[in-house]
Formats: sequence, C-alpha cells, structure tokens
Amino acid sequence: MKFMMMKKIIISTILALLFVSLTYSQTYAAHGMVVSDDTNASQVGVAILKKGGNAVDAAVATSLALAVTLPQAGNIGGGGFLVYMPVDGEVTTIDFREKAPLSATEDMFLDAEGVLIPGSNHKGLKTVGVPGTVAGLYLTHQKYGQLSWADLVQPAVDLAAKGVPLNYTLASHAKTIAQSDSPDFLKHLYTDQNGSVLDFGDVWQQPALAKTLAIIRDQGADGFYRGDVARALVAYMETNGGLISMQDLITYEAEERQAVKGTYKSYNIYSMPPPSSGGVALVEMMNMLALVDLDSIAFNTTAYFHLLTEVMRRAFADRAEFLGDPDFNDTMPIDRLTSKTFAQQRMAHLDWNQASVSDPVKFGQIYDGENTTHLSVVDVEGNAVSLTYTLEQSYGSGMGSPELGFLLNNEMGDFNPQYGYTDRGWLIGTAPNKIEPGKRMLSSMTPTIVAKEGKPYLIIGSPGGRTIISTVFQTVLAVLAYDMPLHEAIEAVKIHHQWFPDELIYEKNKLSPDLVKALEIMGHQPVSRDQLGRLMGILVDQVRIGAVDSSSPDGAAIGY
Ligand code: GLY
Repeated sequence: MKFMMMKKIIISTILALLFVSLTYSQTYAAHGMVVSDDTNASQVGVAILKKGGNAVDAAVATSLALAVTLPQAGNIGGGGFLVYMPVDGEVTTIDFREKAPLSATEDMFLDAEGVLIPGSNHKGLKTVGVPGTVAGLYLTHQKYGQLSWADLVQPAVDLAAKGVPLNYTLASHAKTIAQSDSPDFLKHLYTDQNGSVLDFGDVWQQPALAKTLAIIRDQGADGFYRGDVARALVAYMETNGGLISMQDLITYEAEERQAVKGTYKSYNIYSMPPPSSGGVALVEMMNMLALVDLDSIAFNTTAYFHLLTEVMRRAFADRAEFLGDPDFNDTMPIDRLTSKTFAQQRMAHLDWNQASVSDPVKFGQIYDGENTTHLSVVDVEGNAVSLTYTLEQSYGSGMGSPELGFLLNNEMGDFNPQYGYTDRGWLIGTAPNKIEPGKRMLSSMTPTIVAKEGKPYLIIGSPGGRTIISTVFQTVLAVLAYDMPLHEAIEAVKIHHQWFPDELIYEKNKLSPDLVKALEIMGHQPVSRDQLGRLMGILVDQVRIGAVDSSSPDGAAIGY
C-alpha cells in the first residue's frame, strides 16, 4: 500500500515537473526560429529556412500550412496583417484584411426598426468579408521572398493531400462539431470518405483543399481571385445567399502600409497601422507608461494593475472614437494618438488611488472574435516577420464550398453593426468603422517587432480579439520595462480593460483574492475569465529564443 502511494507520488511529481518544464520552456537556436500555434506548421517554416528561404518565405509557408492544420484560425478564406523588418532596412507592413463586399450596406444587420438583429453580424454567408490572405501572402512573397512561390505552397498541398494524424485538440473539436448544428461544411471537415467522424490519431486528409492550394501554387494570387476557384466561390455565394461577387474578388488587393512607430527607452516599436487598431493602441499605452517611474511599481501588484487598467481604458476609448479603415477615413489622427504629448494629456488626470469611470458614455465596443492565430519568424540573417491572421470566430462562418475545401471568415462582425448607436455595454456606433462597400473592418491584431540598436529584438503577437492589444502590450512591457525573460513575460498573468463595458478582466485563479478585493476598493470591477491571449514570441539575443504560450496545446517554437 505504502509502496503504491510512493509510486503515485513519484509519478505525479515527475508529471508535474514535466508539465512545468513544458509550460515554461524556451527554445534556443543559433540560426533561425519559427514559432506558431501548430507543430506541423512550425516544422514547415523551419524546413523552408533550412532550404535557404528567408523569414518572409518561412512566414508565408507557415501561414499556408496553418491553413491546413489549424483550420479554426489558420486560413486562406480570411485575412490578417504582417510586419516585416529586414535586418538592415526599413520596416514595412502588409495589410491583407478582408473587405466588405461591394453590395454590403450600412444597415445589413438591422431589423425594420433599425436595431441590430442579435447575432446576425456573425452568422451566415452575409458575414463573409472578401478574403485577403492569398493576396497578402503573395504580395509579400513577390516583394520580399527569396525561394519560389511554388516552394512555399507545396508543403501545404502535401499536408492537405497526404493528411496528418488528427491531434487531440482537433479530435475533440470533431466530436463537438458532430453533435452541434454547425453548417454542413464544418460538419464534414473532420469526416472520412464514408462520413464517419475522425478520431484522435486518424489520418485527416483534405483533398478539395489540396486541389485549391495546388491551383494557388501554380497560378499565384490569380489562382484564388480569378479563374476556377473564383468562379466556384462566386457560384457558391450566389446559390447560398452570399454577397461576394467576381468583381469583389478581381478588385481585391493587399496593401503595403507604413508601420506605426513608437519608442520606449532606447527601443523602437513597430506595429500594425489601421485598419488594425493594435499598433496605435500599443504605442499610445507604451507612451503613457514611459511617463511613470516603473521602478517604484512592482510587477503584479495592486498599483501595477490599477495603472495598466487606466492606461488601457484611455487607449481603448481613443480606439473606439478615432480608428477605422484609412482608405475611408482621411483624417484619422494617428500621429497625434501616438505622440508623447498626447500621452501626457491622457495621463494628466490619473488618480493613483481611484479607478476612473468609463463615463460620460461616449464609446463602447463589442467583442471581436478571439480565434485568431499568430506566428513569429527570424531567419539566419536576423530578418524578422510578425504575422497575425484570422477567420474572426473559431472556424469563421463555418461555411465554405465543398468543392474548394476551405473555410470562409465571418469578419463582417468586426464592423460597427448599428451605425449611430453606442451604449454602455457592447455596442459602438461610431463612423470610422461603420459598414461601407469595399471597406476594411477595424481589427485588433497587433503583430509587433521591437528593435534594439536598429535590429529586430522582440517579435511578438497573439490571438484574442480585442484582448490581443492588452496581452501584447503587457508582454512587451514585461520584457522592456521589467527585464523579464520572454517565456516568463508570456506566462505572466494578464488583464484586459476595453473602456466599455467598464470591467477589469483578469485570468481566473491568477490574482489573489486580496488583490482582487483591493482593486474593487479602488473602484474597479474585476471579472475573471479562463485565459487571455496565446502569445507566440521570439527574442533575438546571443541566440534566437522562441517561446509558445502554454495555453497553446499544439504550438511549437522550432529552431535550428
Ligand atoms: N477578428 C479579430 C480582429 O481582427 O481583431
């Protein structure tokens, strides 16, 4: 009996140690590193680096592999953003955010009284934005890649055609989806030729997706936006009540945009400009914190969380008021919002003992979808890519043409659905992000590169809808201001405040009851939830250090 007990204790201790070492591990490599939410995809990226590809090549190949092996967020039917910093050159960004179809209207999700039909902006084919991923990856490759396009697409074709063993995460999704009333496309995603639901370890093949990817491999972006794939997509839309037309596809273009820039201490921060709000909010928050003597504020204390909450409250209010697609908003005050002077004005009324109130009610917002995915890459030269892309919600709309084999996003849900109506809860109705034909919906994705002495130093990003901004911000802060090792910064407890609703969201069981109480006494409204963010980062030091958030069940930092 005693022996059995001892054996149990020893086994559980070993398991606990193993868990800790996995949870808090960092990966070190001398040459290159790829960090993504799926091991198969990270392996594809590293193979490309070893073949002589640069960071752009590896990022493109990893993204396409994720479109096969991480279908809940990886995609060719969605959109996203990429920040590229060559080791000796100008930082640039590629915007491949989806666009509203040309037939979209301001009131498309409203009832006859002009009120939002609950859930309508996230359900059904009308929520699909014109996909941008293939255009964005192709443009990035054409401008900055080194290997051939076909070299980068082929691994994804192979993964889809030959199949991969279904991992535990996807096997549990398969079971849940089979018992749900999901759209047919999603119901068939994890079934075999006989329609049986696949189980853990079964080989999961996607022949239709392999065919579509092979066309993209052979024809580049035209293979998606023109020709057979485009025709099949438009036919699917027409048959099923969707809005995307051939004109939408032919006219879609990814855009190269100047990065949003900021400084903190001697570091330079480069992140995504609108139509993502991530970079502006990140720089604004870092500027506010630069005004505070953080040496006197210990990490994870009441004062620390109070300060971060107040900073977030201000940046998210500005996000709601000012930001949207730059191609539709000529006068967005990006320079002002990211200036040091503006940070001083925003911090002028900070009360160190009392929470401010998100009032008068001016701006609130709804949650964005949280099932985005991020990847970070550094190559042997030190060139870096930070890329975040998404289908909006998990598996996007859940819809797609069976002939084409890929899922379509439901990104239209990121627009302000009821223009002119803002409340204290979730709805925001400001003009910069109202629905307009051909417009890109505002995003929170925050792919970021921090440079030290002019070279890529920290490459970081996360999924998490609006919480992306907060979690990337806190990770950058932990590394730059608190000198925390990357994996500790990633694992550190995160909080989130987005102006409205006026709640301080924190990760369940990670703040002590005393600390939560202290925040309440200051006037905050703490609310717990399971987890915030799933960060994927690389730090370039003497070597490349990669770290995956322990909340990613299948992610991997792989280097060589
Ligand atoms: N769909 C999440 C975002 O764009 O922020």
